[in-house]
Amino acid sequence: MIDGFGRTIDYLRVSVTDRCNFRCVYCMPENGYPVSPKDELLTFEEMARIISIAADMGITKVRLTGGEPLVRKDLPELIRRVREHKSITDLSLTTNGFLLPEMASNLKKAGLDRVNISLDTLRENRFVEIARRGNLQKVLDGLESAIRYDLSPVKINCVLMKGFNDDEAADFARLTIDRPIHVRFIELMPIRWNLDSTDSFESMSALRGESELFQLRVTSDDGMLSDTEMRRRMVSNDVAMARIQNELGPLTPAEITTNGPARSFRLTGAGGTVGFISQISNDLCERCNRLRLTADGQLRPCLMSDGEVDLRGPLRTGATDDDIAALISEVVAHKPERHYLAEGQKVTGRGMSQIGG
Ligand code: GTP
Ligand code: 5AD
Ligand code: SF4
Repeated sequence: MIDGFGRTIDYLRVSVTDRCNFRCVYCMPENGYPVSPKDELLTFEEMARIISIAADMGITKVRLTGGEPLVRKDLPELIRRVREHKSITDLSLTTNGFLLPEMASNLKKAGLDRVNISLDTLRENRFVEIARRGNLQKVLDGLESAIRYDLSPVKINCVLMKGFNDDEAADFARLTIDRPIHVRFIELMPIRWNLDSTDSFESMSALRGESELFQLRVTSDDGMLSDTEMRRRMVSNDVAMARIQNELGPLTPAEITTNGPARSFRLTGAGGTVGFISQISNDLCERCNRLRLTADGQLRPCLMSDGEVDLRGPLRTGATDDDIAALISEVVAHKPERHYLAEGQKVTGRGMSQIGG
């Protein structure tokens, strides 16, 4: 499938639930979002059907996301169904890692290729402030299980935030030296979905580096970072990279298989790699190859634009595979060229946990 800007679309991200067992400050309010009623969520059978139709149209890479996908204990069942489709050559999962210690073995047996684990700090006291549920040790155990069961390449996604964890870039990079771990730094995106006023990054630049940030904690009423705070706390990947090189020496360009939006590097002699996903400072839209299916059955051409097409309704009212394929083609044709976050674009509608990151 080719979109209106000549990009090949071969990657489908499928959110299997909007529920999550964590409450990361940049993603969810303290008490979570209202979750969709069960009957509005796609069944695994429905997801598998859409994935199969999309695979016939050229999707070769499928990632299961959430919320937290592992809160669906029967996930191996979906993995087995997707695995039956031979043209899907890369089947992966993005997880917060908390339930991986008990599930990694069954996920591997069901046919999952690999996992990306979200982890923003290596310090227990900060974990409590950022993720606000679960505990660091279990996520670290999850990381070990992923390596043990060869869900590889095993990647860690780390979002650096001023005043929370921006002094940990080198600590994360150090993990790649002796182990086959691939750490990626993701720039914080101001996804506060229309809840407060939005400034552009340019107008916020005067505020960058303020020491006051180090006293700030979450200040919005519902315990999620406000849009403005997210813009203030974003650490650009250039800064993260410079810090790592200062502490640990040069990063040289590296290639790894299954590389999506990250630019990857390696510390001298390291087993793993250090990657940067720079969706704010260095547009990755140009290379974007993906569509997103939400847990309630809406197909979205872009994380950052609100357009979406309902597949659940047609699926439940007798649509044929060709009907669904036509809807998928329509979404591809309407994929926007890029996001406009730097210009102050405000996205309404869904939170990250409702789209799948
Ligand atoms: P790999 O195939 O292992 O490289 O995975 P991935 O990077 O595609 O998936 P992952 O779930 O680990 O995504 C990492 C993060 O990159 C996402 O959570 C987003 O923050 C960012 N990202 C991924 N895709 C997009 C996108 O289409 N647009 C924007 N703006 N950010 C994205
Ligand atoms: N900005 C950047 N990354 C985010 N994630 C969730 N919300 C945001 C945000 N506002 C990341 C998580 C996870 C991935 C799926 O998305 O840390 O690694
Ligand atoms: Fe849950 Fe992931 Fe959102 Fe954290 S970022 S609250 S782990 S969905």
